[in-house]
Amino acid sequence: MSAESVSENQKTFTLTNNNTGDSVELPVLEGTCGPPVIDVRKLYEQTGHFTFDPSFTATGSCKSRLTFIDGEKGILMHRGYTIEELAENSSFMEVAYLLLNGDLPNQAEFTKFERDITYHTMVHEQINYFYRGFRRDAHPMAIMCGVVGALSAFYHDSLDIWDPRQREISAHRLIAKIPTLAAMTYKYTVGQPFMYPRNDLNFPENFLYMCFGLPPEPYQVNPVLTNAMDKILILHADHEQNASTSTVRLAGSSQANPFACIASGIASLWGPSHGGANQAVLEMLDEIGDKKNIPEFIERAKNKDDPFRLMGFGHRVYKNFDPRAGVLKKACDEVLDDLGINDPRLELAMELERIALEDDYFVERKLFPNVDFYSGIILKAMGFPVSMFTVLFAVARTVGWVSQWKEMIEEPSLRIGRPRQLYTGPAQRPYVPMDKRK
Ligand code: SDX
Repeated sequence: MSAESVSENQKTFTLTNNNTGDSVELPVLEGTCGPPVIDVRKLYEQTGHFTFDPSFTATGSCKSRLTFIDGEKGILMHRGYTIEELAENSSFMEVAYLLLNGDLPNQAEFTKFERDITYHTMVHEQINYFYRGFRRDAHPMAIMCGVVGALSAFYHDSLDIWDPRQREISAHRLIAKIPTLAAMTYKYTVGQPFMYPRNDLNFPENFLYMCFGLPPEPYQVNPVLTNAMDKILILHADHEQNASTSTVRLAGSSQANPFACIASGIASLWGPSHGGANQAVLEMLDEIGDKKNIPEFIERAKNKDDPFRLMGFGHRVYKNFDPRAGVLKKACDEVLDDLGINDPRLELAMELERIALEDDYFVERKLFPNVDFYSGIILKAMGFPVSMFTVLFAVARTVGWVSQWKEMIEEPSLRIGRPRQLYTGPAQRPYVPMDKRK
């Protein structure tokens, strides 16, 4: 078995087959920061073996320049800027530009980008009819899966993924129209008329207007809610190769159009282990109801025979506090205080966090509050129903999904993603005619 020829100063791992004594040298690739990777692209060719990592706990699926997470230190950066600095100093539109284009915009670049997005916020009038087919009590994420997937049927002039201009237009269309579709979804489920986007409002103001504005009266922009919305969107914008982003990349690797790819990301995000956790946290807090019940639920979360999990706790990558949770917890206090709302769920959540973080089970497994633990309390205070929480996550994450999709398409070596497997089914066997079966 010849080892792949690697340059003499290339760092490598030597893999030895202890049954045959054969060895291969595998190249080590290093990035700007974070763990180096062992390049196993030639492994099967050289050893006849696959790697095996069913939930991708130790597998790098791509190179990316967008986002970096240090799970041990609780660090999250977008294009090198920490989430804390972006949440404090930037805006969601500026973070969208940063993720899409690689650097913070100057004023002229930002003004043009914001205008480009603003002028794509309307959706084709025919899309309104899609909503009529849903029951009013349909889950908002079910509606979003449908209407976002339908966008492919409307924008034929931006489906050529190999045309940079069409890639840019479809990226802008998705970032601009998904908030409109999300607001329409909310309006449809509460039986109120759709509110058309307004070009005189910025991104968060416009989204809140489309959700909470009403035809019979003028809409008052509330700076507290606008700032909180913008911060929440920043915190949910992108997060490396999470389940929904990986879904978008895999769909995009087949050269499916970007609207269809983002619809697949929405479907994946819906799961309660992922973006659906923000809804599950509120439902959990309501089920716990009172501080005195916390010990019972902590025990249930630790009981392997009980499917109950402490929603909003734990993370595949963070083995420290999720930095987004810290920012959200602070924003929680500010929003509830500014709105004069005393939500007992915040008190309950803080007590639950305190008790859990003193419990060996959570400490040993490094289970800390994640982005979903506090977000729902703010969203509830802002007037959103629990069923809309994951839709709001999708509005923000569309920026990350689109940026990751664009980065992948622009890679010179785009190939379809096609994992292999360890087959454990029956060995080959002859067909048995029906009358010969037991
Ligand atoms: C998001 O990937 C991302 O970046 C996602 C996200 C993003 O921005 O895209 O950050 C957004 O999805 C945040 C996560 C939201 N989900 C939840 O809050 C749901 C509750 N969390 C768990 O389901 C779980 O922690 C996951 C899904 C988040 C992570 O699961 P892993 O990495 O597969 O961890 P695991 O299930 O292997 O757990 C390791 C151990 C197990 O116990 P042991 O087998 O070692 O005894 O920790 C336990 C688990 O039972 N555990 C929990 C727990 N989470 C893990 N026990 C109780 N409650 C929990 N929440």
